[in-house]
This record gives sequence, C-alpha cells and structure tokens, in this order.
Amino acid sequence: MSETAKIEIEGKSYEFPVVTGSENEKAIDIKKLRGTTGCITIDPGFKNTGSTTSAITYLDGENGILRYRGYPIEQLAEKATFLEVAFLLIYGELPTKSELENFQESITKHTLVHEDMKQFFEAYPAKAHPMGVMASMVCSLSTFYPESQDPNRPKEAIDLTMHRLIAKLPTLAAMSYKNAMRHPFVYPKNELGYCENFLNMMFSMPTEEYTPDPVVAEALNKLLILHADHEQNCSASTVRIVGSSQANLYASISAGVSALWGPLHGGANQAVIEMLDKIQADGGDLEKWVAKAKDKNDPFRLMGFGHRVYKNFDPRAKIIKKACDDVLEKLGVEDPALDIAKKLEKIALEDPYFVERGLYPNVDFYSGIIYKALNIPTEMFTVMFALGRLPGWIAQWKEMVENKEPIGRPRQIYTGENQRDYVSIDKR
Ligand code: SDX
Repeated sequence: MSETAKIEIEGKSYEFPVVTGSENEKAIDIKKLRGTTGCITIDPGFKNTGSTTSAITYLDGENGILRYRGYPIEQLAEKATFLEVAFLLIYGELPTKSELENFQESITKHTLVHEDMKQFFEAYPAKAHPMGVMASMVCSLSTFYPESQDPNRPKEAIDLTMHRLIAKLPTLAAMSYKNAMRHPFVYPKNELGYCENFLNMMFSMPTEEYTPDPVVAEALNKLLILHADHEQNCSASTVRIVGSSQANLYASISAGVSALWGPLHGGANQAVIEMLDKIQADGGDLEKWVAKAKDKNDPFRLMGFGHRVYKNFDPRAKIIKKACDDVLEKLGVEDPALDIAKKLEKIALEDPYFVERGLYPNVDFYSGIIYKALNIPTEMFTVMFALGRLPGWIAQWKEMVENKEPIGRPRQIYTGENQRDYVSIDKR
C-alpha cells in the first residue's frame, strides 16, 4: 500500500502520493495539486521543495554525509583521480581501466580551443573578472560546434560535447588568467595529466618552463573532487532549468558558471579570503567581526559559514581544513589567514548564534587558503570551483535530459494591482 499525505483545503480533503528515496527521504508528490485543488505551493528559495529525483549525489545535512553515486566523498578524495570521479558522476559507475583510458584519451585530444577564440580574450580588459570571461567563453564554444544545438543528436555526439567541455574548461580558465596578466597563452600538453596540464598552462612562461609540483597537483586533484557535485545547489539547478528548454549544453553550463559566481554560492571562496584579509588589516579583532556577522543591521556575513543543507558540518570543509595543514607544511607556506580562519571557526562554534542556526564552515571557508598556497590568484578561486563542478553540472544536465523532464516553469501567486484602465498622460 503506497504511502499518501492528506491535505485539507477549504473544508475539502485531498490525498497525494508520498515518494520515498533510496535513503528513505520522503516527498509529497504534488504533480496533480493544482489540477485537483486549484492551489499551488509557494516556497521562496525552494528550501522545502524538491525539483527532481536524482541518482547522482546524496547529502545528509544533519549527519554531514556526502556521496557521489553512493561512494563516500572521503574515499574518493583520498583514492580517486578527478577524471575517475568525473566519469563516475556522468556515467554512474567507476570506470574500468580501459574505460578510464578511453575517457582520458578523449579528454586529452580535445584540450585545444579554436585559434579564433584568442581574439575574444584579447578584447577583454586586463581587470576583467575571469568568471565573466569563463561564462561567455563557454557559451561561445557553442558557436564553433553548431551541431551541439540539435536536441536529438545521437549519444556519441552528446558524449563528444561533454568531453569537449571537460577538456577545454581548464584551457579557457588558464587563458583568462594569462590574458589578465598580459602574458602569452600556454598551449595544453598531451603528455601531462589533467591537473598538471592546467598548472602548466597557468604558470609556464616562454622564459621558464613550469615543473608541476606533485604536492600541488595532488592538492588540486583533491580540491576538484571535493567540488565535483552537490545535488540541486543553485548552479546545478540553473543548469537543469536552462537545459530543460533544450538550450544546448554549452549554454546550460555557461548559465551554471554565472550562477556559481555569486558570493552566496561559489563566489564565497573569493569572499572568504577577502574577508580574512580585511580582518587582518583591521587589526585582527575577531570578536568585533563575529559581532558584526550576528548584527542584523550590519550587512556583513561570515563568508564561508552556513549552508542550506549542512546544519551540522560540511564534510568537505573538514577534509579541506586538514589538507590546508598538510599542503602548507609541504610547501613551506606560512599564511596568517589560516590562523585567523581557525580562530574564527573556534569563536563562532562556541557562540550560540551560530550553533543555534547550524552555521558551520562550508566548502568555501578553507579552500581559498589552499588555492593561495598553490599561487592561484584570488579572482581565479571561483573559476577553480567551476573546474571542479563541471562534471557534476554535466551529470545533472544528462540526467534531466535522459529523464525527459518537462521545461522548468514555476508558477506564482500574483500580488499586484487588480484590473484598471489606461489613463492618458495628460490625466496622470
Ligand atoms: C556553496 O547549496 C549548495 O550545495 C552550495 C554549495 C555547493 O557545493 O554547491 O555547498 C557551495 O554555495 C556554499 C555556501 C557558500 N556561501 C557562503 O559561505 C556565504 C555565507 N553564507 C550564507 O549567506 C548562508 O549561510 C547561505 C547562503 C549559505 C545559506 O543561506 P540560507 O540557507 O538561505 O539560510 P539563511 O540565509 O536563511 O540563514 C539562516 C539564518 C539567518 O538568521 P535568522 O534570520 O535566522 O536570524 O542564519 C543566518 C541568517 O542571517 N546566517 C548567517 C550566515 N549564514 C546564515 N549569519 C551570519 N553569517 C553567515 N554566514
């Protein structure tokens, strides 16, 4: 006997089916709500609303659990490569040796972008934020592959588009950095691994070949894995809803890049470092800044703190916090920002304001400190988040398409003026 939920509206009782997921999460299926009751639900920010069922990522906010296709993030971050995790998220299973080799080979041979794109970069001012460049460059890729706009193209063509994106995003990211520095572009090298190739494109110079430090490459691999997917977050939901109109994958991912840019979302990793620098420059009075974060009349918020789902701890923040100590020690980097971050975390977690609201460090709180140690410039932090999140966005888009989900089009409750007649300008 399937479970149901009863709703009573204006004295009439209605029953709706209850959907139960593989981890026993429950949802009231309201697909027929408006048709049977004439009512809709309303839920700004979708805090209580599921947009879909999904088999990609599982979060348990109360217990700080994060799994990609059932595999705990702790194991993947420790043992997998980023391309292995990308394959897992997109195709649903960890790749066999030959599957991974074929996937890596396909990615490797598509790392170049069309030479014409160099002119696009050169048109940007040096101070152009790389997320603005990234969003437009990703959408511009669709103009070089018009066939990607056919919603009915075969599986192989869709795979090619997915692989092209995973291959080219690091190239575009590095080009946006080189353009901002007014340094010459560095081309991808097929003999390098995914992370090493990105680092080489970022830091090699015509005068001096960059030798990727294994510690840096390993730290980058771990950070990309930790950012790879996070179920129906703001940017993934954006990718799904744009894709639901049958806009091509490049356009859908470009929309995800734009959504991620916001400081309440992926832009928080840049905002955290700017916040820590501001606190340090202000004399490091942590109690003062924690009080500001609690003050409703003060727009200041503790960036990198709080989460829509994690009300206990973000497992990614725990892993990154530990990695901070390891990476900075191995690289021999001293960063006062790390000490400030740790003290800030300690003060906040002993403060009832944060504890009562379930506000803990999230993925963005410590990640910027590692990026800084890897010599990634602050304005590139959110680009790094996008590099990691790309396979998750692709997996979410693919699932939406394969499930033949309808175009996303929420309803509303109108609260504006009732009907009124036009008044000529001389009578207003
Ligand atoms: C990411 O969704 C995802 O999965 C996202 C992400 C992913 O991997 O895709 O995990 C990545 O975006 C992480 C979050 C990065 N953003 C930040 O670090 C920005 C700072 N944090 C917040 O602005 C906030 O916590 C959000 C946006 C993350 C969550 O906001 P919610 O769920 O809408 O919660 P809320 O704003 O309603 O806050 C609830 C209460 C409020 O106080 P009261 O009205 O109850 O008195 O907590 C307070 C808020 O004022 N609060 C904070 C706070 N975050 C929430 N107070 C001070 N500092 C903060 N950081």
